[in-house]
Order: sequence, then C-alpha cells, then structure tokens
Amino acid sequence: MTDMVDKFGSNEGGEFGVAPSGPRRSFPIELLPKTSKISDGRVSIGGVDLGWLAHEVGTPFFVYDEEHIRSVMRRLKRSFVGEVAYASKAFLCRELARIVDEEGLFLDVATQGEIFVALSAGFPASRMIFHGNNKSSEELRFALEAGVGRVVVDSFDELDRLDTLAFGPVRVWIRVTPGVEAHTHEYVMTGQEDSKFGFSFNSGAAERAIKRVLDSSNLVLVGLHCHIGSQILRLESYRAAIEVMAVLVRRYELAELNIGGGLGVPYVGGEEAPSLEEWVSELGRYAEQAGIPGAVRLHIEPGRSIVAQAAVTVYRAGTIKRLEGIRTYVSVDGGMSDNPRPVLYGSGYDTLLVERAEDVATEIFCISGKHCESGDILVREALLPADLAVGELIGTPVTGAYGYSMASNYNKVLRPPVVFVKDGKHRVVVRRESLDDLLRLE
Ligand SMILES: Cc1ncc(COP(=O)(O)O)c(C=O)c1O
Repeated sequence: MTDMVDKFGSNEGGEFGVAPSGPRRSFPIELLPKTSKISDGRVSIGGVDLGWLAHEVGTPFFVYDEEHIRSVMRRLKRSFVGEVAYASKAFLCRELARIVDEEGLFLDVATQGEIFVALSAGFPASRMIFHGNNKSSEELRFALEAGVGRVVVDSFDELDRLDTLAFGPVRVWIRVTPGVEAHTHEYVMTGQEDSKFGFSFNSGAAERAIKRVLDSSNLVLVGLHCHIGSQILRLESYRAAIEVMAVLVRRYELAELNIGGGLGVPYVGGEEAPSLEEWVSELGRYAEQAGIPGAVRLHIEPGRSIVAQAAVTVYRAGTIKRLEGIRTYVSVDGGMSDNPRPVLYGSGYDTLLVERAEDVATEIFCISGKHCESGDILVREALLPADLAVGELIGTPVTGAYGYSMASNYNKVLRPPVVFVKDGKHRVVVRRESLDDLLRLE
C-alpha cells in the first residue's frame, strides 16, 4: 500500500501533484481544457473570455469545455474495442447526461439520486449500470422499475434482496475484488482484499456469488465487474486484476467483463499520465494475454479522465495576508465546499491568473478558502506573479471531476454555478444557489 507521504506533497503514483517551482514564464497549457486559448494574458475557453464570464455569472464558478468532454468521449469510443460508460459520480447534471447520451456511452450510476437525475434528462435506463455497496431495497426497486440495463451486485445481502424484488429477468454483473493494490491513495484504492466493495476472489466469495446467481430463476449472470481504484498512473496495476478476472470469465463462460475506470490525470505542470489511447490499448492487450476470449464484450467506466481536465474553477482573491518568513495567504471566495479534494486526499492543483496568464510567476502563495477551518487550503503552494492583488481572478484547472459532485454547503456557503461553454457562447447548466435555497429543506 502506498502511504500518504506528505499531506500536500508528492505521493508517487498517488493523488498528489507537486507544486511547480518558479520562475515560470507561461502556464502549462496542456492542463487547460482542449479549446483554451491564452491571448494577451487572457484565458478563454470555447471562445469565451473567463474575465468577461466572471462579470456575467459572478465568482466562484465552474466552467466546462463542452468540446473537451465530447472529444474525450469520442476518442475513447474510437480506440476501445468494447463499450464505454461514463462514471457519473465524477460530475453529473442533466446537461451532461444528455451529452453522454448523444455520444452513445453507457452511464455508471451508484445511487437512486444519480439514476433519477439521469432519467430526468431522458437518459435511457437500459444503458445505465447500477453500482453501490449498500443499495437499499428502495433503490433496487426504483432501478428495477426504471429498467436499468445491469445491476452490479456487491454483496450476498444485496443478492437476496434483489432476487426477492425482481419481477422479471434482471441482468446482473458480480463485482469482484481481485485482491490487487493499485498504486494510488488508499482512500481511492478499491481492488484490495480489505475493501468494503465486492466479493473477494481469493476467499472464494466471488465464486459463491456467481453460483448463487446461476441458481436464481430471476437473476441472469451476464458478466463480472472490477474497479481497482482511481487516479491510477501506472497501467501495470490493471494487469494483475485482469488476470484474476480472466480465470472467472473463462471458468463460467461469461459474456461481459467490466474493468472499471480509474485512469489518472495530470493535475499540476510537469505531472504525466498515460493517454486515453495508451490506457485502452493496454487493457485490450492485458485481456488478450490473460486469455480472455475475443467474444467477451469488454466494458470500461472512467469518470475522472473524461471530465477532470474539462473544467476550471474561477475564484476571486479576497484578502491577502503576508506572514514574513512564513507564507502569504490569499483567501478566495470558495474553498473546501466547492473542492474538498485537497482536504480529503491532500490533492495538489496548479493555478493561474485568468486575466494575466502570461505574467511571469515568481512567488509562492497559499490559496486558502473562506471556511472556518485552518485546513481549508485549496492550493498549498501556488506559483503566481508576485504582484497578485486583491480582486484578481484565480483559476484552478483540472477541477471537473469530484469537485462540484462532492460540493457542500459548509458554513452555508452557496454552491457555485456550473457553466458550459462552446463556440463563443456560454450557458449556465446549474445555477448558483441562492440564500432561499439554504432554507428550502427546513
Ligand atoms: C465502480 C466505479 N467505477 C468507476 C469509477 C470511476 O473512477 P474514475 O473517476 O477514477 O475513472 C469509480 C470511482 O471511484 C467507481 O467506484
């Protein structure tokens, strides 16, 4: 297991980016969404100037490049031999569900709420894959009535409940924990023996679950599933999992195998991750080498690698506090409520001034949020121009995954809007919360 080396520093193959050291003349454009441009220091995405957008919608806001999302989905579909699902936990709203549908992907959903949002966008239930380690009877009933395409069974309790609730044939995958420790942060490592997810291969539980489904007259075993973790930067981690899955796929002559998601992305300048094409080609190669018959339909379900780099969060600098010989804090108008990843995993991000992206960055600032926690730090070491001033717009790129979807109202801070941009136009797909929204549940 990879230990967390330093809460904010590097963790080999883990969740953490290392702060770049200065001076830096230009921001690494490869961290920005596909259609981003920097001209006279001003950043635009999808033809929309981010400084202008800040005036239109206020700060903070998430801006997503629609072209980026679509092009990643197309690249995956083009290069992968099997089916591609989008893991909606990374970020879901109705507009995104419609894009996933238009691009012909499956959708990984893990709760009734995710199914509900996707259904309300018109996403066909038949292309939904229903996950979750603790699906309630209510959730299972809801999913069955909606007609979800596959239920990924995670435990014996769930198997019993599903069997009782089924009112017709239910297509099932068994989630297997292959006993593999992926090189990533322990909180997002899911394929190891000691896990709350799935049936263990090594203990024989996976085979008992398979037999239990085969004995059922309602449940139809169409395949197996595994997901070894998230933010995986070393593809080798998948090989061992696929070898384990191959044993079961062959033994029970199964038609489908889902290898999960998990491909990592670079978060800071200088960090590297395998490309989408390298990832899917290695998965195909590992499957072939493990003797998985060509007729077996492979599935993958990435989330982060589809949306992380598609978005930038834009904040406004509020107060600047210089502590001589210690550090300079720059507090912004958001924080752990719109991006809890730094607090949860010690994740690193890069930063840029979206209206002065070409000014030489020479000084390290600590970008902190507005919450009542000393730990509410968004970027521990942000390399920015030394004359950074109150009121300037600070962007944190690569915030499209597990940011808004994990957002909260901590301190009754209003959740920011989500804006999609394309062809010089913007549309607010999730509006900013209002003060009235804070009262709507009381
Ligand atoms: C079962 C399952 N599939 C897919 C994913 C998506 O992973 P990622 O966003 O790392 O691609 C997750 C996320 O943890 C997951 O739990």
